[in-house]
Amino acid sequence: MTRHIGVLTSGGDCPGLNACLRAITLRAVHTYGWQVSGLLDGTLGLLDNPPRSRSLTPADFGGDVFRQGGTLLGTTNRNDPFAWPMPDGSRRDRSPELIAGWRQLALDGLIAIGGDGSLAILRRLAQQGGIPLVGVPKTIDNDIAVTENAIGYDTAVSVAVEALDRLQPTAASHHRIMLLEVMGRDAGHIALYAGIAGGADIILIPEIAWRLEPLVARLAALRRGDAGRTTGSALVVVAEGARTPDGRQIRVREKSGKGRLGGIATWLGRRLADAIGAEVRVTTLGHLQRGGAPTPRDRFLAAAFGAGAVDSMAAGHYDCMIAWQNRQTVRVPLADAVASGQPVDLAGTMLRTARGLGVCFGDEPGEA
Ligand code: F6P
Repeated sequence: MTRHIGVLTSGGDCPGLNACLRAITLRAVHTYGWQVSGLLDGTLGLLDNPPRSRSLTPADFGGDVFRQGGTLLGTTNRNDPFAWPMPDGSRRDRSPELIAGWRQLALDGLIAIGGDGSLAILRRLAQQGGIPLVGVPKTIDNDIAVTENAIGYDTAVSVAVEALDRLQPTAASHHRIMLLEVMGRDAGHIALYAGIAGGADIILIPEIAWRLEPLVARLAALRRGDAGRTTGSALVVVAEGARTPDGRQIRVREKSGKGRLGGIATWLGRRLADAIGAEVRVTTLGHLQRGGAPTPRDRFLAAAFGAGAVDSMAAGHYDCMIAWQNRQTVRVPLADAVASGQPVDLAGTMLRTARGLGVCFGDEPGEA
């Protein structure tokens, strides 16, 4: 019997999603002779009647779509269907509508490409509606437990490194301090990896509490030309989720009242300029990290995860996620993947490497 599977992308987009859709489609059609339907705009399309979907065939990927960022299917990172905000301010559980939409499509199983938040919601939905579900990890934040890498992270890091490569010469020419704010939500993976690769002098991440004094001391030393630095310039990478010394995260206000992370580099830039009397400039990379062509690494991960997810369905394994561990794809329980996030490992190689290079994290006792 021919099987007909569904696939959706959910949560914030990232480069590599189209490459994963391609891999799922090619594997399902060519290896197993299945049909594939894409659900539109994450779970949002299931709320419409009829539910919104489109068929996916190898011909859809004949061109260069897998080289492009974004997602062919659309996505959403707003609103929990179990607590949907209503115009009168109340919350409504819309999961029964989503499940009804899913049943109308009469599909045999669902592959969900999402971050930890989306995958947790989809797992709950799958359990409630009896949906055979396989997850694929994607997020530039790289904060999903039990997988060493998620689709999108490598591209985001490469964009941040390119930004540092571009900021360094202008910082040096003007003897300025350049602050670069990168995304990552509550995890500092992008900031740490890009900071190491891009030659940052200071890196601030949510996992490490910092004080202003060590930063000022380090910048003053750099400006004096200590440690061989003659340009008087400095590169500072700040994760959007890094907390102020009194423990607050800086947010951009939104109508919903919730607010989005963003603004910590500007907050810090003002204080550093006052404390040091140097010229400080702030660049916020924002959604540039989420767009553009995926790197080869992300294309590869997308392909491996996509094919792995289809194989998992063919073998009858559901309620799992395809993960990357020790240079290969493995199947892990979805429950483990959504149980917790994955912060920067404070005893790990990345942090040790950065400290070994003399990068300042603002927690150095000697520089107070
Ligand atoms: O989770 C991915 C991410 O890009 C975070 O790094 C960032 O905080 C958030 O999404 C931004 O969300 P939005 O696209 O809604 O502004």
